Amino acid sequence: MNNEEKMVILGGVKLHGEVKISGAKNSAVAILVASILVKGKCVIENVPHVSDILDLIDIINGLGGVAEFVGEDTVEVDCSDLTDYVASYDSVRKIRASSYLMGALLGRLKKASVALPGGCDFGVRPIDQHIKGFEALGAKVDIEYGMVNITADELVGDTVYLDVVSVGATINIMLAAALADGITVIDSAAKEPHVVDVANFLNSMGANIKGAGTDVIKIRGVKELHGGTFSVIPDQIEAGTFMIAASATRGDVMVTNIIPKHMESLSAKLEEMGVGVEEYDEAIRIYVDKPELKRANVKTQPYPGFPTDLQPQMLTLLTVAKGTSIMKENVWDNRFKYIDELNRMGANVNVEGKDVAVVEGGSRLTGAPVCATDLRAGAAMVIAALIADGVTEIYNLQYIDRGYENLEEKLRALGAQITRRNVNPMPGVLSAVNV
Ligand code: EPU
Repeated sequence: MNNEEKMVILGGVKLHGEVKISGAKNSAVAILVASILVKGKCVIENVPHVSDILDLIDIINGLGGVAEFVGEDTVEVDCSDLTDYVASYDSVRKIRASSYLMGALLGRLKKASVALPGGCDFGVRPIDQHIKGFEALGAKVDIEYGMVNITADELVGDTVYLDVVSVGATINIMLAAALADGITVIDSAAKEPHVVDVANFLNSMGANIKGAGTDVIKIRGVKELHGGTFSVIPDQIEAGTFMIAASATRGDVMVTNIIPKHMESLSAKLEEMGVGVEEYDEAIRIYVDKPELKRANVKTQPYPGFPTDLQPQMLTLLTVAKGTSIMKENVWDNRFKYIDELNRMGANVNVEGKDVAVVEGGSRLTGAPVCATDLRAGAAMVIAALIADGVTEIYNLQYIDRGYENLEEKLRALGAQITRRNVNPMPGVLSAVNV
């Protein structure tokens, strides 16, 4: 799992079969951090084995909690004796979700000192709305020498109106407010499935949170949270990535262990393009039986809109549809960096301004060495490679490894010709063909 490996994919195979989706990475990272608020043991099931999770486990252990994988996808966390409130840059630099440490440590210890977080690089990633929430609860926040220092004598509930719909700020304010005095109201809250999952986790440990999944979340602070067992929801973005990969390769894939409701915006777009989408209770079958897919315009939006985390994968699919499509990115400032890589594979995509990409469809993609420029851009490169003629080598796998569990194994089981190699293979080892 590092940047000294590359993925080698021989394209042109239609994906066929069944794939089981793992637990949601973006939910699991928040829930692991949320367990800092709990005095007692939390058993968290359906946690994906990805590097963001492993890094967070290290961070929690470094703060004096006890966290470990105790089974293939079960993590036990016990933060009963956690006392350290300082998370240095060295420990948090790799993961954006470390910002949740601010809310959790503040809620639990009334102080937190957390380095400004890292994560994928796609534009400015401000935390003003998180800070606004902490201050509304009575905390004092200073940023100095790259650290966000937060202290409070006491935390008292208040109403926070978010100026932008932010998943991170919504979850962070819930974490800070769960043990505060009185009632906190988050207005204009994010409604993503993982916001609801974090609220459900906290409630199952004794919190009193109502309205998660709507614009207004009400948190009535409680004195203490107790341990328990909780299972993370399936990964909406991993599921979407496989649905798009199946469509792009003109395959026939049953994507299982998912919540079809979470996939509605994608399912609707795929159907609009002519992809066959069959919904079951906990699965969706994707198949293509039409000679060509139709163009579509897509706008990313907070949930229930089309997810920004599926934008690069969807845009890759649009490169092989018939006609001109427009992709409008409404969530992040600069999430089109990967397009240069896609164009090197033969796509014809022009970025206009910061947020619009015009996709001339009907391209014949061809294999090339390309880089994953972030986690979801990496997934897009994998999809492009699966449909390209010839061999594609994908570099910078550390991004993909942050969020996709067993990606190669799952794709291989669907028939993909995919493998992982050292960047500098031993002399005599073929690096490209023979995948
Ligand atoms: N924003 C602000 N101020 C803030 C916070 C956010 O202006 O204080 C802006 C951001 O600049 C952005 C928008 O609000 O334009 C949305 O940001 P949000 O806070 O919702 O993003 P996040 O919580 O940092 C999570 C996911 C991202 C996903 C976004 C949007 C996690 C760990 N990360 O990030 O996932 O893109 O929500 O849905 O949950 C990924 O999985 O690849 C990924 C990047």
